[in-house]
Formats: sequence, structure tokens, C-alpha cells
Amino acid sequence: MLNLLTSALLLSTASAAAVVRKDYGHDSENSRKINVQVGVRPYYLVEDMDEGSLKRKLQSCSEGPFKVSDFVFAHRGAPLQFPEHTHESYSAARRMGAGVIECDVAFTKDKQLVCRHAQCDLHTTTNILAKPELAAKCTTPFKPASGGKPAEVKCCTSDITQAEFKSLCGKMDGANVNGTTVAAYMDGTPYFRTDLYATCGTLMTHNEYIELVDGWGLKFTPELKTPEVKMPFNGYTQEQYAQDMINAYKKHGIDPSRVWPQSFLPADIFYWIKNEPKFGKQAVYLDERVDTLEGYANATASMPELAKKGVKIVAPAFFALTKVRDGKIVPSEYAIAAKKAKIEIVAWSFERSGWLNKGGEYYYQYVSPVINNDGDMYTVLDVLVQQVGIKGIFTDWPATVTYYASCFGLK
Ligand SMILES: *[C@@H]1O[C@H](CO)[C@@H](O)[C@H](O)[C@H]1NC(C)=O
Ligand SMILES: *[C@@H]1O[C@H](CO)[C@@H](O)[C@H](O)[C@H]1NC(C)=O
Repeated sequence: MLNLLTSALLLSTASAAAVVRKDYGHDSENSRKINVQVGVRPYYLVEDMDEGSLKRKLQSCSEGPFKVSDFVFAHRGAPLQFPEHTHESYSAARRMGAGVIECDVAFTKDKQLVCRHAQCDLHTTTNILAKPELAAKCTTPFKPASGGKPAEVKCCTSDITQAEFKSLCGKMDGANVNGTTVAAYMDGTPYFRTDLYATCGTLMTHNEYIELVDGWGLKFTPELKTPEVKMPFNGYTQEQYAQDMINAYKKHGIDPSRVWPQSFLPADIFYWIKNEPKFGKQAVYLDERVDTLEGYANATASMPELAKKGVKIVAPAFFALTKVRDGKIVPSEYAIAAKKAKIEIVAWSFERSGWLNKGGEYYYQYVSPVINNDGDMYTVLDVLVQQVGIKGIFTDWPATVTYYASCFGLK
């Protein structure tokens, strides 16, 4: 029985690998006209909404059609249920109608670009700790929790080569910091996600991601992740890293209009504006200044200057784009200032909050007094679209946004 099971597993692994290869390369021009599936979640959320015209409108769209939309940015793929930045996660995002798919870009020891949310998250997003020969290469090898002290570990893409990276399996992002064994530490998927699809997610290099998304006829949003090692890294400069990411699209003959490069570091954005203007004019400045009140005020005040320096798109966490006035959700000062400076806005990240019955924490911090059920997320999305006028939104579960986008005709 065990043998049968093992060979069935091997077989399915082999055929999965064949599918991976077959998916690469160019599909027909009709590749965007796939049979988009939104699944049951949007219906659950719509039923959960408070009564009103928005709920009635969304109910009226229940039978589709649902279409691929560039409003829908797949945040790390579809990590509400699939291991982030894996072939399986990107495939799920595509099936759910995402028009733009994200790869967070980090570099390996041999200076190759791969898709990972952070340079040093391999211990929470992959099975590296279960592979002793690679775990030994981690910046901080695993030290179990003991005597009330949490476990310590740090494994970076720059600790291993691209070939070693490709030998890992993607898992759901999470860890039990109180784990006293590797197995206990790795068993930390947040309660509102699932391990159902976390058997062995196929990790992706940046080049593989480009070929995959290009073959689907979709668009790209690569994020140059802020290095967690001192730069230059063995002679590799920040500028070369920023340039290498763009070079990959040029090498694949991708039109810059299909690429939205992102970074939290203003210097990267200005580098692209100056040195790669066709890509730079679509660069997305990820704005985390809003995380403090003073930073929020500074960011709001800085919009005219950012516009003058050529920044065309800003992207804060979506909490910063709305607030509550007279019991209603309305655009924030930040959102109004960006619009006035003619800067477009992309928001992040929808469907990362789990249940909203207690106000929704980080992503709903400015509107928590009026948030008390999961359906309220559509009320917030509606204000972001109809009043703030966002260009797109990153989401951990593309279907939730695709349902809204198709209902309101957002291409
Ligand atoms: C870890 O232990 C600390 C201290 O006992 C506790 O506060 C915390 O909730 C625990 N975390 C997890 C993820 O179990
Ligand atoms: C806000 O701007 C002021 C004035 O330029 C500066 O001194 C301060 O450090 C900034 N604060 C933050 C959090 O960015």
C-alpha cells in the first residue's frame, strides 16, 4: 500500500512537472478569454453584506459573465489558500481572473532572480528547515524555542544558489515561534488559511514567472524586494539588481506597457525613471510612510513633489486611502492629495485579514468602527473604486475582486 501510494505520488509529481513545461511559451491571442472561475467565496461575502443598494447590485451579477481584469492584481498569486509565489498559486490566480500577477523579486547566492516575498523568509515559506543539508546554510540555523524564548532562525535566498532554491517546496507562509522542533516550528499556517494545497508548491525563478505569465497573455508586477543583506553583496550593487530585473523583461521581448515594477525604496523608483524611462513611467512607489501618523501627514504633503520627480503611481496599504466621516467611509486626505497631484493609486492588500467581525485590524484600522462582518470588505472596495478611483488592488484571493470588477465593468 505504502509503495503504491509512493509511486502514485511520484507519478503525479512527474506529470505536474510536464504541465509546468507545457504551460510556458505563447498561447493564442485568446489566452485572456479563459473560463474564469470565481468559486463560492464571493457569493458567501455578498450574502453576508448589510442590506442596501451595493448588495443588490452585486447580487444582480451572480450569474456572470466573469472576465479577466487588469484591475485585479494577484498578490503573490493566491496565498489565501495556495503557497505564495508558486506555479500552483499563480495558476489559481489566473483561473480566478487576475489580469496582473505579482512576483516579489529576491536574489540568490549566485545573483539569480527568484520569486519570494522577502529575501529572508525561506524558513516560513518553504521546507528548507526539513532539508538538513540546505538548512545548515541558513544565515541563522534553527534554534528551538526554550525557556520561554521563541525559536530563532533566518534563511535567505542569498544563502543558497538558484539550483538549490529550485529544489525546495513552497509551503503556506507561517511559523509557530514557540516550536521546540523543526516540525512544530513549520506547523504555523494562520487559522483562516489552509494547508490543503501545500503538498509541495513549485518554486519559480523570475525568468520562469515571466515565461508563464507571458504565455497566458497577462501582465506583470515584479517587486524589487529590499535587500536584507548589506549591499553591495559580493560586488552586486543595488543599481545592478534594479537593472537586472528590468533586463529580464527586455530579454524576453516584453512590452514595457505590460510591466509595473514596484519598490518600497524611492531610490529604485528614481533609478528606473532615469535609466529605464519606459518602465519607469509605470513604476509603483510602495508607500509605507503611512504606517505612522506623522509619516502619513508627510506622505500626503509630498504628493506634488513626487509628481514633479516623475512618480506616476503610488501604492499604500489600503487603510490609508479611506477614513470614517459621519459614520460613512470616505476618501482620506492622502487619497485626495494623490488625485490632486494626478498620481494614480494602486492599493494593497485585499483578503489578508481573515474574519472581519472584530473590525479587521491593520488593513481596516481607519474604518474599524463601521466594520463588523466579512461582507463589509465589499463596502470598503466600493469606496476605493467609486470614490478614491484606484487603478487596481492587490488581493490574496483574486476571485473576490474579480466578481466586483466584472459586475462593475472594470477592465
Ligand atoms: C508563544 O508563547 C508566548 C509566551 O508563552 C505566547 O504569548 C504566544 O501566544 C505563543 N505564540 C504562539 C504562536 O503560540
Ligand atoms: C516628517 O517630515 C519632517 C519635516 O521634514 C521630518 O522632520 C520628519 O522626520 C518626518 N517624519 C516622518 C515620520 O517621516
